[in-house]
Amino acid sequence: MDKKQTSVYACSMIELSVNHREKGNITVIENRLDIPFAVRRIYYLYDVPAGESRGGHAHRKLQQLIVAASGSFDVILNDGKIKRIFTLNRPYQGLLVIPGIWRELDNFSSGSVCLVLASQKYDTGDYIREYGEFLTWKKI
Ligand code: TYD
Repeated sequence: MDKKQTSVYACSMIELSVNHREKGNITVIENRLDIPFAVRRIYYLYDVPAGESRGGHAHRKLQQLIVAASGSFDVILNDGKIKRIFTLNRPYQGLLVIPGIWRELDNFSSGSVCLVLASQKYDTGDYIREYGEFLTWKKI
């Protein structure tokens, strides 16, 4: 895959398994079984103040699965030409974000938890934080 040519249409919601139990539910995510990459890092956003937005960058190589482990928020994906907005509000759904996609996250509900499974370790060099630089990199 040419990571500069990626499209928002290649990003998709993945339905994760959910085991319903009387005592509550459990969702399991296994490398390369439920998601198309091996997880090397996990992080989560929480206590995001009302009205705050996160993201505002793209990754050159990183793949991610974004899950609303609790509550809800919107993820706006942008490949430089087309924007798609996904509302995440189910802990058994994950949004697969492929490399080369600008993303912003907003509309966090109170108490929401944004769980991110990532394919690479943290690498500042993998980030594109300037939108103009992103468009140049995408050759748009
Ligand atoms: P950033 O990815 O910019 O967060 P967001 O896109 O949600 O606004 O990261 C915020 C800060 O956290 C930044 O200073 C770097 C740090 N950070 C790490 O040290 N390791 C990580 O794995 C991540 C994702 C962030």
